[in-house]
Amino acid sequence: MIDWKDRKEFWVAGARIADPVTGRIRTGSVLIRKGLIEEITWQKQVKTDLPVLEAGGLLLAPGFIDIHTHLREPGFEDKETIETGTAAAAAGGYTAIVCMANTDPVIDDPTVVEHVLKRAADSGNCRVYVIAAVTKGLEGVDICEYHHLKEAGAVALSDDGKYITNSQVMRSALEYAGMQGLVIISHCEDPYLTNESQMNESYWSTKLGLKGAHAASEEIAVARDIRLAELTGSMLHIAHVSTAGAVDLIKKAKKRGVVVTAEATPHHLTLDESMLEDYDRNLKVNPPLRGKKDIAALLAALRDGTIDCIATDHAPHTAIDKQVEFDLAPPGMIGLETSFAQLNTELVGKGELELIDLIRLMTSRPADVLGLPGGKMAEGEPADLVLIDPNERWTPERENLRSKSFNSPLLGKELTGRVQGVFLEGKWFSSII
Ligand code: DOR
Ligand code: ZN
Repeated sequence: MIDWKDRKEFWVAGARIADPVTGRIRTGSVLIRKGLIEEITWQKQVKTDLPVLEAGGLLLAPGFIDIHTHLREPGFEDKETIETGTAAAAAGGYTAIVCMANTDPVIDDPTVVEHVLKRAADSGNCRVYVIAAVTKGLEGVDICEYHHLKEAGAVALSDDGKYITNSQVMRSALEYAGMQGLVIISHCEDPYLTNESQMNESYWSTKLGLKGAHAASEEIAVARDIRLAELTGSMLHIAHVSTAGAVDLIKKAKKRGVVVTAEATPHHLTLDESMLEDYDRNLKVNPPLRGKKDIAALLAALRDGTIDCIATDHAPHTAIDKQVEFDLAPPGMIGLETSFAQLNTELVGKGELELIDLIRLMTSRPADVLGLPGGKMAEGEPADLVLIDPNERWTPERENLRSKSFNSPLLGKELTGRVQGVFLEGKWFSSII
């Protein structure tokens, strides 16, 4: 077999090429040279002296971009490291990820931003961008030095995992972030309302005997942040939207011209609260899995553009972290390696979303939300690409995942659609173990 890893110039021929910008999938061939997409032709075969990778009708798309990954390094290397998290990303078809600030130390200082970027350059398997904290230590009290964080390389700001409860702090944060042209990504859950909750508040929380968090805990938080974004004119992005009411607030805000964007996770789009019946700790996430009506509203919002993009909220936790009483288990599930297959199976496979729309929500849209490069299938762009067999069936298991943690509710469940590998600046990284 030819080792594509070391090829500097080659054709990928006979692929179904997905262009998220034009919204078309057409058969053609792509010339990759010196890490760039040099040429795209709509010929199935190419006459050339260069090596040719016969794609055999596989789907070739821009590499996925995840704007919500918890890499856990520094501080929680037992859960994930930059090396394993980026290997998981590449295996899932991602060529760029943006990592969250809730590490230890928190990414609230330029030296930590620089440290993460250096570690990613040394041991990363995909591009890594860094989100810095909004407030020092994620404590919601003192805002960080955004100018210095930006100079060090931060691309956005977030206290993800926590809501900034002090409205004056959030107002100032938006004002200063706006001056630096940085988006604030808000984790919208009012902690006074979610207090010690384990799942969504509904019939199911009563039935299962778990304390619930009402949808209002998210909607109140979203409403306040939208109002503050409107007041300040600064850019706001709502992380992991999970309720129909939150969708409604975002839709109305966009209509009035508020600069607000939003993401939804693969788990909130495909899994519902009733699945907690077996008390699987891997289904415990913040915000919690909601009801079927919420899922329907999220899907409608993906289709009409109210929700701008899909982001994983890949949140690794060790088996030891999770193998405790339900209320002691930390919230979060991994997602990088299963997101495409999960969404392809549950949404594209069931007629909820077109394949090209799913690709757009995982490529050009997240890039647009944070103003990142990539996500485009065009000549002159870096050859950051993903090769996918949308029909291959496979089953995620501990043994075929690269993440250091296995806290996924999808282990042992057959999915349709498998990432074959990515080209990162033209270099092949095969995902199949
Ligand atoms: O479920 C979650 N886990 N939601 C978050 O917002 C944080 C994350 C984590 O860091 O584990
Ligand atoms: Zn998160």
